[in-house]
Amino acid sequence: MPLFFVFILCIAALPAAAQSLMPMPAQTSMHEGALPVTRASTADCADPLAQRAVERFLTRLSKRGPTPNGAELHIRCGAAAEDESYTLRVTTSSARLAAPGPLGVLRGLETVLQLATEKGIAAATIEDRPRYRWRGLMLDVCRHFMPAEAVKRQLDAMAMVKLNVFHWHLSDDQGIRVESKLYPRLQTHGSDGKFYTQAQIREIVQYARDRGIRVVPEFDMPGHTSAILAAYPSLAATPGPVPIAKTWTILSPVMDPTRDEVYTFVERFLGEMTTLFPDRYLHMGGDEVNGSGWARSPKIQAFAKENGLSGKAGIHAYFNKRLSDIIIKLNRIMVGWDEILHPDLPDTTVVQSWRGVKAMEKATGQGYRSILSNGFYLDHMKSAAYHYANDPGDGERILGGEACMWVEYVTAENVDMRIWPRMAAIAERLWSPASVRDVESMYTRLRGVSAQLTELGIQHETSRMKMLQRLAGKHSVKPLEVLSTALEPVKMYARSTSRAYTTATPMNRLVDSIPPESLTARQFANLINEAIGGNAGARLTARSMLEQWRDNHKAVLPILQSNPLLTEIVPLATMVRDIAAAGLDALDGKPAKLMAGDGKRVPPLVTQRTCAAILMQYGRRRTTVRRQCAEPRYLEELVPVILEPVRRLVDSATASNASRDSRRRAG
Ligand code: ACM
Repeated sequence: MPLFFVFILCIAALPAAAQSLMPMPAQTSMHEGALPVTRASTADCADPLAQRAVERFLTRLSKRGPTPNGAELHIRCGAAAEDESYTLRVTTSSARLAAPGPLGVLRGLETVLQLATEKGIAAATIEDRPRYRWRGLMLDVCRHFMPAEAVKRQLDAMAMVKLNVFHWHLSDDQGIRVESKLYPRLQTHGSDGKFYTQAQIREIVQYARDRGIRVVPEFDMPGHTSAILAAYPSLAATPGPVPIAKTWTILSPVMDPTRDEVYTFVERFLGEMTTLFPDRYLHMGGDEVNGSGWARSPKIQAFAKENGLSGKAGIHAYFNKRLSDIIIKLNRIMVGWDEILHPDLPDTTVVQSWRGVKAMEKATGQGYRSILSNGFYLDHMKSAAYHYANDPGDGERILGGEACMWVEYVTAENVDMRIWPRMAAIAERLWSPASVRDVESMYTRLRGVSAQLTELGIQHETSRMKMLQRLAGKHSVKPLEVLSTALEPVKMYARSTSRAYTTATPMNRLVDSIPPESLTARQFANLINEAIGGNAGARLTARSMLEQWRDNHKAVLPILQSNPLLTEIVPLATMVRDIAAAGLDALDGKPAKLMAGDGKRVPPLVTQRTCAAILMQYGRRRTTVRRQCAEPRYLEELVPVILEPVRRLVDSATASNASRDSRRRAG
């Protein structure tokens, strides 16, 4: 054995070379030193999938810095088709990757790239395997179409963090995005002309397969079908015409479950789709069925009565049973959102739980296999830490988890920023052992992964800078960037309540141009906690951050005033300045200044009156103004996330002043 120094990876001492490792392997020992690698031998792994992966690997590795005449990575693999495990041993004299099958080679090569330093591949011994076999990302391409290139970028990024299921949400009220030769009106009348040709679908499925990713297409039925019914109105429960939706609520158009013609359509259409999508699983949606169309139809009501179907749930279950029979005939396994759960479905059915963990427990309790998506909704704009804490749990019927990217407020321009790098934290939750849960370590490694994603061509960073620069116009982007680090987009579904959006609304405002989570604000919140705990260094750094936010106001104001898309931000920018100033006052031991007129101890936020006056000036409708100013923290769909830590700081300073005063009185 060569001389080495073993770090069993505990989080306290994460060696620099491991700071891009994500997902964290099942077992990792880092050793001293590194080995420059420039070649790879696949003589013991002839599988074409692995060979193509090795070519891509060498290309990526060579871009890191050409070390001439480096060592060879020796790769050995067996023929196990689905096994993703691998063993990696890198010393200062040799590098070996061994796996039971080609997929393990793919996963292991990503680990090698994550271990690459300027001195070579960091010496390490790694034994790795996934915790779950279903580690997915769902992408909606209906509310806003995502061109093939945008889809391929997600596949590249997914492969980097060892995800293995791409769930492609291809039909919804706003469009059906796949070309059908049997039902061509689907693309001509069921979309705005934006759809994937069959050749593109085949190419993307192959692209995914090459990266060890299965593609599970979703054709949502019987609700979320406005686009299908726009193309074929005779399938609808109530007489058409049905328009393609331009907005997104739970719309009333729904298929007619009583008509044989509907099942003929479903069978022929899905039959055609199975020639494009070889995966054994087929997702049939089944979520958010609006029962009003069924309730309004005397014919459907009579049918329900005749067949003993009770209410919406009974009719939905009948539809799903017939759907399921068709899917079995097509030699596929049905996946559906948790609303489909019903004892009539065959026990091979997979239930995707989105409404709650309870839905998953109910499904697995009744013998169905399940995938957890509740808690993994990327469109909720929560932090990486929030998603990281979400765990599908253990149980043989739990296949794994899937993050969902619904794109009502997302376009191809900012989709990377909406998914990455947070998705990497979810990938770790789904791949790594349950015991890997240190949040600070995750964030440290997320920075490393984020840089590697950019290297791979993912646009989460570049699109942010491009969009901010477009807003700043001829001005320097820096002040806008500084302001934006104090802000995050509103969480959950708040956007849908603040403005009237349609599919045509441009997504080009500040809220669209900044990431869901400000890592700077997160660092600031940690510093404030440490400062309150008495850490002088943290106090100093927090002070300089607050000064930067406060003093940035002068520089950012002319930028905000120069672009009509940004003038709406002025009140919010003022608020950020005032919050920062309040924080500095608290650091100076003068928190009394924060007493607002109403006697509550809050930072000097814009008052409702000022808020209303400013918004009215920009021609907002009175109702919008009332709503936005009722909760001034959510002005313009942005949250000044530095507010909460500053509040803690103010409270702490107020408390320590009070105890000093009482000591003085007592003394
Ligand atoms: C869903 O989010 N409607 C599945």
